[in-house]
Amino acid sequence: MIQWVRNRFRNRRTDAKTYWRKRFADDPDGWVAGGDRRWTDEVNYNSALEIMAALTDVLQRHAAPFAGKTLLDAGCGVGHFTEMARKLGFDATGTDFCEEAVQRAQQRYPEPIFRVADLTQLDLSQRFDVIITLNVLVAVADPADWRRVLRHFAEHLAPEGIIVILETLRQPGQAADTAAHVAFRSLAEYSEALVGAGLVVQHDAQVVLSAENLSKDILIIGQDHDRS
Ligand SMILES: C[S@@+](CC[C@H](N)C(=O)[O-])C[C@H]1O[C@@H](n2cnc3c(N)ncnc32)[C@H](O)[C@@H]1O
Repeated sequence: MIQWVRNRFRNRRTDAKTYWRKRFADDPDGWVAGGDRRWTDEVNYNSALEIMAALTDVLQRHAAPFAGKTLLDAGCGVGHFTEMARKLGFDATGTDFCEEAVQRAQQRYPEPIFRVADLTQLDLSQRFDVIITLNVLVAVADPADWRRVLRHFAEHLAPEGIIVILETLRQPGQAADTAAHVAFRSLAEYSEALVGAGLVVQHDAQVVLSAENLSKDILIIGQDHDRS
């Protein structure tokens, strides 16, 4: 029985990886693979610029000054946001479980460090001042994997560090899984999953993308100083 459960979770992970590998193989140089497949390359590119502007504002308010600080871009895809963080002044590292995406990131952006790593088994032997994870946790559909990833983020966070999550949050009455490989969570679900790690979540901002007025929520997670 236990073996059956283990295999089931392992297979789901393999499926997710196969799914992302195909997406990056189909669109190695564009903005669609790591973005929204319903949109053109140009629309995805413009959306990425809007996200970068919102993210820069959030980082400026919560993590400045940047020079000398370490940043992990968890689930970095082809590294666009890792490079953005490096240009802001962070000592930036990007990780993704998709080898093709990491190779592409290394070719395209030679300065940040890029590593192949599955977030469900993350062990980088390093703590980061900032961990960003953009449109990634929605792709970790399995609930046990999702909790595992959050635990690994907590283990990789420096004592005064912050985690920045960009996702579309699940609203009351909304279905959690609208497609295979996707699961939306509410703010309350994030709070509940992180409280055990002594972390507190706050909803910081909402970005409304010009494309379809699609909104993305930005969460900031840090130590719960009131608890200690
Ligand atoms: C929607 S893309 C976003 C990529 C990038 N963050 C961006 O915004 O351009 C989701 C990314 O998460 C990665 N990913 C999904 N599950 C992962 C896991 N368990 N470990 C590492 N990366 C994962 C995929 O390979 C993919 O690159």
